[in-house]
Amino acid sequence: MPQSRREFLSLSAKASALALAHQALFGLLPSRIFASTTGNPLPLPQAEGLYGLLRPTAPLTLTATDVPGLLPATGSRMLAYEARQEGRLWRNPILVLQKGQDFRARLVNKLDEPTIIHWHGVDGDWRQAGHPSYAVAPGGHYDYGFPITNRAGTYWYHPHPHGLTAKQSYLGLASFFLVRDAEEEALSRELDLTLGVTDIPIVLQDKRFDAHGGLVYAPGKDDLLMGYLGTEVLANGARQPSLNAATRLYRLRLLNGCTARIFNLRFLRDGRPMPFALIGNDGGLLDAPRTLDAVFLAPGERVELLLDLRGMKPGQEVILSNATFDPMHNEDMGDMPGMGHGAGHGAGSDTPQSGGHTASAPGEHGASSQAAPLAEGASYPILRLRVDRVVSYDRRIPARLSSLTAAAPALAGGAPRRFDLALDRHHGRWTIAGLTFDMNAAPVVVERRAPTAWEFAGAKDGMPHPMHLHGYFFRVVSRRGSPQQVGIRAVDATGRLATDLGLKDTVLVWPGESVTIVTDFGFPSYAGEQTFLLHCHNLEHEDQGMMLNVRVKETDGRA
Ligand code: C2O
Ligand code: CU
Ligand code: CU
Repeated sequence: MPQSRREFLSLSAKASALALAHQALFGLLPSRIFASTTGNPLPLPQAEGLYGLLRPTAPLTLTATDVPGLLPATGSRMLAYEARQEGRLWRNPILVLQKGQDFRARLVNKLDEPTIIHWHGVDGDWRQAGHPSYAVAPGGHYDYGFPITNRAGTYWYHPHPHGLTAKQSYLGLASFFLVRDAEEEALSRELDLTLGVTDIPIVLQDKRFDAHGGLVYAPGKDDLLMGYLGTEVLANGARQPSLNAATRLYRLRLLNGCTARIFNLRFLRDGRPMPFALIGNDGGLLDAPRTLDAVFLAPGERVELLLDLRGMKPGQEVILSNATFDPMHNEDMGDMPGMGHGAGHGAGSDTPQSGGHTASAPGEHGASSQAAPLAEGASYPILRLRVDRVVSYDRRIPARLSSLTAAAPALAGGAPRRFDLALDRHHGRWTIAGLTFDMNAAPVVVERRAPTAWEFAGAKDGMPHPMHLHGYFFRVVSRRGSPQQVGIRAVDATGRLATDLGLKDTVLVWPGESVTIVTDFGFPSYAGEQTFLLHCHNLEHEDQGMMLNVRVKETDGRA
């Protein structure tokens, strides 16, 4: 830890150096409000380049490196995974794999600090899953090789070195990992969907910039406690993005790739919410489409939606927006001893405190963007869809999407194991069952034999935490004590939301809420004892230690 801590400090300092030199120019940042007629094209995945589609035909090399001029929003440098195949070059390729295929990749670390890739939601033995104990030093490499056993779905990949996950992901290292199978391809044919054209992966990430458009990651103490919020939200790296669309169905695969920001997404047409069909979440297609007009999406989560633009005329627009909600950040957290005063993220006040980079040169404090972060629960536009052509399209969304069942598994006897999600006020960090991460400890031990029930209990005076489990999907069984803005979206008597109905790997737990999940640790059946992770996907929380090892013991089959 001391080593990576030092590297963290020096990189933060570097990241903010440019900003420091041009502090006088602050305030000239482009408005975060959409200009009424302009916008930048949403980058769509091409056959190569940034977020291009890559169907691996041979073992792949992914080189984590710093690339000048890459970020679409500002032309600034960003970190990316570079890959080459058959003479083409990708950065952060959207990997497209077929279920049953073998996946082989070598991570080469060209960063100046340790890293390791985690394949989020992708089945694989713990050595394949990017446990932080496997982080490789600068210049080193790590070889992955495993069969793709997931059902079709929108998975993703990002770094997972302990203490550096947020920064490396924020500075650019993240992309999609899409798995396809027969069931999903049948749906795509039925709806005439083409990946990259009418089936569009979109990663949403909020960023702060310095005066030259460089990415700034310089969390202060409040940011480490509450999460680091950006001043604007990018889609596929572009600012104020817009997509020209035809009068037909579009499938959007939305990934919240922010370190901390929660979205409450809706589509506005003439200022009014337009319904859409939720068809999939973290672990692929739901059993049936659900019509919604808003959806919460927390860091790490994915949703797949169908948006129907039939009936619209050229020139008309739909705007993917964030709708107001209460972010439920406890305003008095910033008053704790040692914390900056008044965290106040909901209100957008944020002054970098000294804690984030105490080792940097004097004067570097406050060198990050002085534009106030975009308040988390505010209303703001994200992506403009502009209808520019009429096409004839008469496909219908099938009533049944997949063979999955919506039912939660029956709970085996005994109370679920409870994990309190609460603040350790003394140390100013978030805990799971009172604990923080210890690389060598295994505070949670489970046996493979039986489905296991866990209950995440969010402290009433806490904040929302998107809880993520590596290695296995789970089912949400119930949500109790939900705040009203969540409870009103319940779709059944268990309090579950539409987004809780499929296979999940990340579930948002609101303050005062108890979310019960069931995981079958016998599936997938990995060989040997496993050490996976349970953590909060607010990446500032994760890096501060809101993470536990989960040991899965090998037991003799099922009784
Ligand atoms: Cu996407 Cu351990 O996380
Ligand atoms: Cu994961
Ligand atoms: Cu958290």
